[in-house]
Amino acid sequence: MEALLQRIEALKTEISSFVAAKADDTEAFRIKYLGTKGLVKEVMGEMKNVPVERKKEFGQLLNEFKLFAEAKYGELQTVTDATQTNAENSTFDWSLPGDPLREGSRHPISLVRNQVVSIFQRLGFAVAEGPEIEDDWHNFTALNMPENHTARDMQDTFYISQNPDWILRTHTSSVQVREMEKGKLPIRIICPGRVYRNETISARAHCFFHQVEGLYIAENVSFADLKQTLYFFVQEMFGKDFKVRFRPSYFPFTEPSAEMDISCLICGGTGCNVCKHTGWVEILGCGMVHPNLLENCGIDSNKYTGFAFGMGIERITMLKYQIKDLRLFSENDVRFLKQFSAAT
Ligand code: DAH
Repeated sequence: MEALLQRIEALKTEISSFVAAKADDTEAFRIKYLGTKGLVKEVMGEMKNVPVERKKEFGQLLNEFKLFAEAKYGELQTVTDATQTNAENSTFDWSLPGDPLREGSRHPISLVRNQVVSIFQRLGFAVAEGPEIEDDWHNFTALNMPENHTARDMQDTFYISQNPDWILRTHTSSVQVREMEKGKLPIRIICPGRVYRNETISARAHCFFHQVEGLYIAENVSFADLKQTLYFFVQEMFGKDFKVRFRPSYFPFTEPSAEMDISCLICGGTGCNVCKHTGWVEILGCGMVHPNLLENCGIDSNKYTGFAFGMGIERITMLKYQIKDLRLFSENDVRFLKQFSAAT
């Protein structure tokens, strides 16, 4: 009986390594193994010589062997069929290059945010983040805007009905407060994030947008440091082909305060719709951190000074890519989005 066992094993190896090089080979396989005079039948015929006590064992073995050979035949058939229809009957040119996979691209707001972050990181600023649902203290009061302060009206706030103390943050300046409260000095951070304001949606305004806030607090920080930092930023961001100016301004959280304008990149300063025919575009607000803020957060304002600035990422992106309608950023039109790639 050992000889029969060996025979079955040998045939199994032979069958598994069988390859149908041409279509005819599959039929040759069928005749050789599964035909009426085929090897499977022949081996099955050996059953009659198996002693009674081993009939059950060999019955199972031979049956498995038969199924094995049939399965292989099935496999050969599918392969041959596919090759025949694909290669012989088709007029398709298999040597053509494939269709490219369409890759996604980063959103222009993310691209510019990453770029702003990396410029400031090179100056030693670290990224800090805070919650979008903020409380009155961090968004207003600690920033020198106590209740009933008129500056609160500069930003139309969304309130959260469950709790009168909660709002959607109107600016990323709230993150400044959270960082100052930690009490670890010096502080040199930038805070990118989304902010919300109850504005009518138009080409120039939206109810949510993105800002980057910057804050540097240490001993002897001066307005000259602020100017130099921001000059570096705009040059890295926009190149050298434009003019920059600081205008005195007012923010409750800085004293003195300023706004930074650059000459309009769209018309080159001669006047267009984007710069409202002034030749200048405002890109950020800034100033020296008001001593009240430092004291509100437990920092000694006689020892420490600092500067802060805040800019809208949408504004920077629109200038950089000459985009004239802010709504494009949130409409998710692929024709718009696919124009921006990580390299630009
Ligand atoms: N928080 C201001 C806004 O949303 C922007 C800003 C202005 C931030 C001056 C500052 C700053 O840190 O010093 O309009």
